[in-house]
Amino acid sequence: MSVGLEVENLNMNFGGIVVARDINFDLRPGDRKALIGPNGAGKTTFANLLTGILTPSSGTIRLDGQDIGHLKESRRVKAGVAKTFQITTLFKRMSVRENIRLPVLERRGESRNWFGRADANAEVEDEIDTLLTQFNLQPSAEVQVQDLAYGQQRLVEMALTLALKPRILILDEPSAGVPSSDSHVVTEAIERLPEDLSVLIIEHDMKLVFKVANTIVVLVDGAILTEGTPAEISKDQQVRDLYLGARHGR
Ligand SMILES: Nc1ncnc2c1ncn2[C@@H]1O[C@H](COP(=O)(O)OP(=O)(O)OP(=O)(O)O)[C@@H](O)[C@H]1O
Ligand SMILES: [Mg+2]
Repeated sequence: MSVGLEVENLNMNFGGIVVARDINFDLRPGDRKALIGPNGAGKTTFANLLTGILTPSSGTIRLDGQDIGHLKESRRVKAGVAKTFQITTLFKRMSVRENIRLPVLERRGESRNWFGRADANAEVEDEIDTLLTQFNLQPSAEVQVQDLAYGQQRLVEMALTLALKPRILILDEPSAGVPSSDSHVVTEAIERLPEDLSVLIIEHDMKLVFKVANTIVVLVDGAILTEGTPAEISKDQQVRDLYLGARHGR
């Protein structure tokens, strides 16, 4: 049975600074959970603990009941936990299609053959076409990534990650750096993600969060302050104070 991701009593510190405090968290198939909180709250650290980039000092991480906490990052990706590629990892002088082809071949275990056979492999090209369509990138398929608008580049990142066919998708600030005139492109791409995928969205853009999330988790100082529906969170006095406080502090 598919139960998704379950985190119990996760703790982590960098030197003397505690960045994850007894975090209990789950992400079920189909969930659209947002993780919000002030700068430095530990959101990216938490994502890195889930993907295996960082190792917790204690706690367990399970995927469908199996402990994955000991797996290295590459093994966790194979198990189905993926965080979006960073724009810096895109091959800017290659086309969108060529960029997407790389993780498709990687997942299929054909990455060593890609120089010779890639274009000939109809299944691979069909898969790339499906991803291009899903992210409305079909018109830009042959365009070099460096010639795309920033918002479009973020879509390429998402397409590359989905090419790995993850079950758990972690998006760390998908709209960061995207001009507000283009942020609907990112929102729409998230809305079109496969329904049964579990999605964790770390984001500062509250408009995006309230549009796509079913559940919001608020992280402060490494600990979960509260979790609830968007309606509950928007009414929560502690959360309101926190955001007002943060704004006054700037
Ligand atoms: N590699 C590291 N070594 C030491 N301290 C770190 C490291 N990475 C992050 N930190 C510290 O851990 C804390 C949490 O940082 P993190 O990047 O997880 O926050 P965040 O919630 O993602 O913030 P933001 O919203 O700005 O992205 C911060 O105090 C940060 O300075
Ligand atoms: Mg961060």
